[in-house]
Amino acid sequence: MATARRVPELRRSDLDLLMQKLHTHAGIRIDSTENVIAGTIQNRMTSLGLRDVDSYLSIFDDSISARAEWLALMDLLTVKETRFFRQPDAYKCLAHYVDELLGAGPAPSELSFWSAGCSYGQELYSMAMVVESAVSRSKPWLQWHGIGTDISFNAIHQAQRALYPEDAVRFIPAEYRERFMGYGQSEERIVAEAISARTHFFHSNLLHVDSAPFADFNIIFCQNTLIYFEREWQRWIIDQLVKRLRVGGMLILGAGEDVSWLGQNVRRLQWPGVCAYTKTGG
Ligand SMILES: C[S@@+](CC[C@H](N)C(=O)[O-])C[C@H]1O[C@@H](n2cnc3c(N)ncnc32)[C@H](O)[C@@H]1O
Repeated sequence: MATARRVPELRRSDLDLLMQKLHTHAGIRIDSTENVIAGTIQNRMTSLGLRDVDSYLSIFDDSISARAEWLALMDLLTVKETRFFRQPDAYKCLAHYVDELLGAGPAPSELSFWSAGCSYGQELYSMAMVVESAVSRSKPWLQWHGIGTDISFNAIHQAQRALYPEDAVRFIPAEYRERFMGYGQSEERIVAEAISARTHFFHSNLLHVDSAPFADFNIIFCQNTLIYFEREWQRWIIDQLVKRLRVGGMLILGAGEDVSWLGQNVRRLQWPGVCAYTKTGG
């Protein structure tokens, strides 16, 4: 007979210490309930073959194992909810922006975009479907590439597989779904090579974005990720994202995520329901 798993009794002081350290490492607030956190710790203890909480807590010194364990714990506790074309208006704004970019004056020699906090990849693939449609319509020779970054190794791994259940694919508008979602083995749908060959996913912590080797993007999406950071970090991250845009580039945050921020060299774009900015100089 299966025995019910025992959720460890976490002392309030231990829990506070763990959450405080997690906050220092990821800069994010963990909104999970104490029970969920305790259950997650129990899962880690089981995976590591540990029987008591003190042995688990003793891992968190300054060693390499401690850093690895922080990553494992963060991976389990971060909220990765996402879907294709999650905020449809943002993608209409993107389509309009790309059409204007390709239509006005000399065409750029290449086009690049970034999904920061990409979760399981749907955001980057949605951006890529919009971009590829616009490019193939008017400038089929133009090279484009997109990158997605996330703190979760598991999310990055899933994103790289480019496989999604039928249920997830229904959020993709029909014109893109028919063109860019093929059939994989079994019941899954696979992102077409025209998209997956030009999209790449990397593990990266937004708290260390100042040392990330990414720059000169035409478009950056950072949606539904900043909400987990403290306000000061939110502003710092947005400034860092803007630094990585080309002049004339566009940044789209989640609806209502502007945190009353207006940095230098940016102008808010008037697009109903979308929190979009363009970089005007610098
Ligand atoms: C709610 S999801 C949003 C996914 C997608 N952008 C969307 O709007 O559908 C938030 C993502 O942010 C990631 N995240 C949390 N903290 C992060 C950090 N410090 N650096 C990078 N990514 C982080 C999480 O792993 C998660 O995948």
